[in-house]
Order: sequence, then C-alpha cells, then structure tokens
Amino acid sequence: MSSDSDCRSVTCQASPNIALIKYWGKRNEELILPDNDSLSITLDTNDMHSYTTVSTSSSMTCDTFYFDGVQQTKLASRMQKVLNEIRRRTKDGKIKFVEIRSHNTFPASSGLASSASAYASLAIALTNLFNLDDAQSTAAYLARIGSGSAVRSIYGGFVRWSSEGECLSSCVFPAEHWSEFRIVILIFNSSKKAVSSTDAMQRTRQTSTLFQARLSTINEKMTQLIEAIKNKDFNAFAKIVMMDSSQFHAVCMDTYPPVIYLNEQSKHLIHLVHAYNQMDGDQTTKVAYTFDAGPNPFCFIRQEHVDEFLRLLKYFYPTVNADADKQVSSDADEKFSSITL
Ligand code: DP6
Repeated sequence: MSSDSDCRSVTCQASPNIALIKYWGKRNEELILPDNDSLSITLDTNDMHSYTTVSTSSSMTCDTFYFDGVQQTKLASRMQKVLNEIRRRTKDGKIKFVEIRSHNTFPASSGLASSASAYASLAIALTNLFNLDDAQSTAAYLARIGSGSAVRSIYGGFVRWSSEGECLSSCVFPAEHWSEFRIVILIFNSSKKAVSSTDAMQRTRQTSTLFQARLSTINEKMTQLIEAIKNKDFNAFAKIVMMDSSQFHAVCMDTYPPVIYLNEQSKHLIHLVHAYNQMDGDQTTKVAYTFDAGPNPFCFIRQEHVDEFLRLLKYFYPTVNADADKQVSSDADEKFSSITL
C-alpha cells in the first residue's frame, strides 16, 4: 500500500515580464518557437507575483491542478505538455503524477502577463522538485512550452528571447544596470480579454499582410534598443518601445477579424504621454508607454520624473490608483491645465 511518507514539495515564485519588443507569431505551435526575437523587462515589485507549489508522491493517482485553492476539473493541455516533458526527461519511471497549486497576486488573462509568471513559476518549481540538470535552461524550455512569453520570466532585468537556435532566453542587462528606471502600471480594465494572445497571433499569421512587414523591422529595432539600454539613453529607448507597441497593435488591427486590445482610455493615455513629453519643449522624453494584449498601459520613466508623472495621472484620472504605495496630492495642478487633448 502506498503512503504519503514519500511526498516531496517545492514552492517557487516568478514575476511577469513586460515586452519592450513584442513576441507575436509562432513558427512552431507545439514547441512554441517564435517568429521573431523579443525583449522584455521582468517586473520587480512586491505586488505582482505568481506562486506555484508542485508536489509528488507515490500515492497520487493522477495529475491535479488547483488555482486559487480551487481544484480544476481538467489540466490545461499546455500544463499537461509540461508535465509530460518532465516525465520524459526523468525517465526513471518513478515520477508518476504531480499536484500543482498556483495563485497570482494580480488579475489573470487581462493583458498583465499573468501566463508568463504562472508558467515560469511552474517551470522553476518542477525543475527544482525533480532536480533536473542545467536548471535555468531546462526551466526556460519548460516555461516556453507552457506559454511563449514565460521563457523571459525565468530571468530578472532586461531579457531577450531568441527566435533562433534553442530559442531560449538570456539576461541582456540586470535590473541594477539602469537603477533609475521605473515602471508605472495603470489598470484601466482588469477583466478577461476577449481574444487570447494564442488565438489572436494565429489569426494574425493567417490574415495580416502587415505582419511580414513588422517581422522585417525587428532585428534592427532589437540592435537599437539594446544599444539604448546599454547607454541608458531614455529618448532613444522611449521611441523604439512606443513605436513597437503601436506597430504590434496596428498588426492586430490588420488581422481579420480585427483584434482590438486598446480601449478609449488607452488611446487617451497615449495622447497624454505625448502631450506631457512635449510640454516643456526641451526635447527630453520623460515617459514611454507600451500595451500588451490588453488596454492597460505600462509606463516607463526615470525616478526623477515619477512624482510629477503621478501628479499628472491623478489630475487626469482622479479615480485611477496608479501606485498604491504612494500618496499623491489630488489638488489640481496648474502646470497640467495647459494640456489639452
Ligand atoms: C502581446 O506568451 O501569452 O504579451 O505563447 O500563445 O502563450 P502564447 O502567447 P503569450 O503571448 C504574449 C504576447 C504579448 C507580447 C509579449 O509578451 O512578447
């Protein structure tokens, strides 16, 4: 008779990453091999994590998955794929079944990159539980076959996912490289997106003629972005990142039927950021935005401009809580009254 005395368990956490040059399109659906290189920054905040606990024991009779403490009737096919890969790699036949328990500390499926942190934490936990060789590249592989963008959440800092060779990720610069760099996230809408990234990018590949044009721009953009980060050149960084976001959403719009992730608030924020950047007329870009598959903006900014930007947000969006940790004056700020959108 089996007992639980051989039960082993590991818990790991991972953070979402925000793409600065977006991944969009797979040349291999099963292995999740991307059409293009992408580059992201992994969030480093106490508020946004995925936690996954994986356990195994000889008494388990099937794989099970609990999300937020609730047992799911079925494992997602990609989760099953990750577990099958683990069984294939361990080969000793001892690993039969796994119990997975995960939860996020932020809304899932709303363009906040929850699948990236979820699959990254699962991959790291499984790699640890089964003591697999080449821990980081194994975790990257497992994360990738769960959800493409998850491969980038294996590392902190600025991370590149290569579309060539092994198609794994690597840290290009650690977060400390650009210590003044900050991210402000606005949640305009946290409901589940209507079209998943997986379905939308397939549809783009099948129907968009702008898609190939986008792919032809990626390599040059990647080189320029890495150079901008290396030199901490925020003006250059901001232009590349905002243009890539717009190009990605243009490709979504060029998809048939169109995929529209941005909403009216997103468009307002885009105009606001450009008006704010031009306000002082000194050619200094203070803020850049990007949007993933959702309406919520990720704004990039250097520390010296954070307080003023939060005041601007409070002025234009009095009900939006841009940063729960900061107390922002709600007084109307004369400086911003000149901005008309
Ligand atoms: C817009 O990684 O969620 O966030 O590989 O099918 O799971 P699958 O897709 P997913 O797509 C993310 C798309 C994106 C851009 C990015 O993160 O690079």
